[in-house]
Amino acid sequence: MENGADPADPLEREIARTGRELAAAFPPPLRNPVRSADARAMELAAGDAELKAALFRFVDVAPACRSLDDLARHLTGFLDEVQDAPGPVAAARRIGGSRAGRAALGAAAAGGVRHMAHRFIVGETLEDASGTLKRLWEHGAACTVDLLGEATVTSDEADAYAARCDQTLAGLARIASRWPGRDVLERDSLGPLPRANVSVKVSALTPLLRPDAPERGREDAVRRLRPLLVRAKELGAHVHIDMESLDSREAVLGVVLELLSEPDFRDGPSAGLVVQAYLRDSGQMLEQVLEFARSGARTPPLCVRLVKGAYWDHELVLARQHGWSAPVYEDKAECDRNFEALTRRLLDARPAVRVAVASHNLRSVAHAIAYNRAAGGEDRDLELQVLRGLGDELQEALARHGHRVRTYCPIGNLVAGMAYLVRRLLENTSNDSFLHARASGVALDELLAAP
Ligand code: FAD
Ligand code: 2OP
Repeated sequence: MENGADPADPLEREIARTGRELAAAFPPPLRNPVRSADARAMELAAGDAELKAALFRFVDVAPACRSLDDLARHLTGFLDEVQDAPGPVAAARRIGGSRAGRAALGAAAAGGVRHMAHRFIVGETLEDASGTLKRLWEHGAACTVDLLGEATVTSDEADAYAARCDQTLAGLARIASRWPGRDVLERDSLGPLPRANVSVKVSALTPLLRPDAPERGREDAVRRLRPLLVRAKELGAHVHIDMESLDSREAVLGVVLELLSEPDFRDGPSAGLVVQAYLRDSGQMLEQVLEFARSGARTPPLCVRLVKGAYWDHELVLARQHGWSAPVYEDKAECDRNFEALTRRLLDARPAVRVAVASHNLRSVAHAIAYNRAAGGEDRDLELQVLRGLGDELQEALARHGHRVRTYCPIGNLVAGMAYLVRRLLENTSNDSFLHARASGVALDELLAAP
């Protein structure tokens, strides 16, 4: 969609109508994902880059702290680096000056981190999460279970992650077999859709993922991913490979395309990968994926999840450090326009692929629904995906309007989830974030306007 698209354009009218219809189903007002009382520090951080950096470093070390005193020492240590501290930060520094004060500050900080984690993480184990997954299904939302953990550093850790994936596939297939029938969630016009769906990170399957030697990491990951695909095929489950930072993209793509080309996997399992629209060259990557999907003629077809990308700050910092030109768009509207262009490209490429559009941005989602309908597609041939804790209200609205929606449900402990949590905080305290804009009271018409 070009900037300043004609509001009389029938597609634009349909996007606005769809967006308003979905927004009307949100319980007003839309909660700020990071605005709860325990997260006031994060809200404060949104406007202050230095403070934001200090808090994110703190969140990173929090799980390794042994006591409340330890936690508070780290917090005040990080806050000490902030110059011109705003009132609440200066107060926290003062409280942290005494042992009793540090214990109180530590308790508050630990509680805040745990509370935030509970929003985004469904449980420590599949067993803990099973009630939530069942309730989601009963309320019209399928799930994809993500086992928290990434960037492993030893082979033992990678083996343990692969074993957890294997157990989760089996456990989820067993649990899901007892859920009631939900036609909209388990069938599209190409056939049945697995109830058990697991998202996997390649960086957790091998400690050898290095951009300078992608072959080694690739072979090591293939060795652990192959048995998982075999298991998923036996169970009739779906395996989705997440996309991570750009330095691992070539290896991740290689692993997935290589394995899915093997004769044993031509007729299953159901599998998918991710395209990140914030990358300037994402259009080329999508063409490569579509070429594979067309020439391989796998059944069921490859599922492509389109996202904007969760490593934006990381990619930018890395590029600046090395003096490289940024691989990601730096203008949010450009990223959003590319997301819409890739959405159309993907929807037009069916039935060679199944399409999943993953976003909490009402405009991006409404655009996908409206374009699908305008192109003659059925609603059931477009899957919409959200992250647990961020897209809960959108998920309910989509389910209420009969769309197929899948919620990404992380499982694991706080230590394993810290990197995931930090990405969610970075994303949602950004002034460019849709959820931030919505929570700041930006008018719906503006939120739904063409980027
Ligand atoms: P919006 O607020 O519309 O967009 C925010 C995003 O825009 C940022 O995350 C960033 O990508 C981009 N952005 C922010 N500022 C700028 C700027 N100044 N210039 C250009 N672009 C900018 N991400 C992955 O990387 N890999 C995955 O495998 C993955 N899986 C996901 C699965 C699901 C179900 C969902 C919902 C998301 C997944 N994500 C994944 C996260 C996703 O990439 C986004 O980070 C997140 O959804 C926020 O985008 P949005 O469209 O919801 O919100
Ligand atoms: C992430 O781990 C959701 O895959 C995405 O940030």
